[in-house]
Amino acid sequence: MVESGGCSAKISPKQLEEVLKLLHLPEDPDILVGFETHDDAGVYKVNDDLALVVTTDFFPPVCSDPYEFGQIAAANSISDVYAMGGKPVIALNIMMFPASKLPMEAFAEILKGGADKASEAGVKIIGGHTIDDYPPKYGLAVTGYVHPKKIITNSGARAGDALILTKPLGTGIILAGQRLGIAGEKDINEAKRQMKLLNRTGAEVMKKFSIRGATDVTGFGLAGHALKMARASKVTITLDMKKVPLIGSTYKIIDEGCIPGAAFRNLDFADPDTRFAEDLDYNLKMIAFDAQTSGGLLMCVPQNLTESVLSDLHAAGLTSSAVIGSIQKKTDKYLIINN
Ligand code: CO
Ligand code: CO
Ligand code: CO
Repeated sequence: MVESGGCSAKISPKQLEEVLKLLHLPEDPDILVGFETHDDAGVYKVNDDLALVVTTDFFPPVCSDPYEFGQIAAANSISDVYAMGGKPVIALNIMMFPASKLPMEAFAEILKGGADKASEAGVKIIGGHTIDDYPPKYGLAVTGYVHPKKIITNSGARAGDALILTKPLGTGIILAGQRLGIAGEKDINEAKRQMKLLNRTGAEVMKKFSIRGATDVTGFGLAGHALKMARASKVTITLDMKKVPLIGSTYKIIDEGCIPGAAFRNLDFADPDTRFAEDLDYNLKMIAFDAQTSGGLLMCVPQNLTESVLSDLHAAGLTSSAVIGSIQKKTDKYLIINN
């Protein structure tokens, strides 16, 4: 029942930035991360040993099974706490549901999927809010703990770091392909498996190696989130698109003409700050901007640690994890996209 499900339903990053500019930023020394750096979550210091990581995400269905939708939405919401180096603790349900149009069993199944995924993450859902609305939308507002000196942010990328991605790309393209009937069952199932996967294990590896710069890849696509990180860290990030792991036939589905609208919105946002290789493959370019739902962690890893970080990620079951780019001193553009 939806035109764009999951994180592809986000407002265009360009429009969002224009509106955020009009907002007055609250001033308080205890706000450790606010919205200037476009981070995954806000961080507020409670005392010298404890800060709260707070975030919310919700979106329309990405699949027809309400239980799976609940799982995916919850995994996606909780991911922002992991991306900041936090431990998610409690959450609230956010639900919009058309009670007169859909059976209440579907409502219950969405909440059950969310609750099961939250409990897998060790998160307790302790309340929520529901309104009657069509089409359904679901997600969580999540609160986590982080040590004030161990926050992982968009501004933590350093020249010389390698860029590692923990999940393959392609969820936006495959879900759009599914609506057009050109995505295969195997690819759809793999996309769903990846979207349900918590970023917890990736976050544990980041903590073990004291990684300081990271984000998760969601609605603005790999390139959009990399750009936000490059701007916040005042560095240039290079993406080597041929090294990026892809889900199944993602590349081929573009050949058949399927590119979701969100990819063009993301491209439009990043274009002024990006240098594209002259021979850049068109499909790889659009994959870089494909909106991901519940995507992987994108982390900045000092060169001497990349081998160890990769082998830990692989051992933890994140077998697609790969070095997909690098970080250098700021040049004329924040982002470079190569083949
Ligand atoms: Co995020
Ligand atoms: Co988010
Ligand atoms: Co209320």
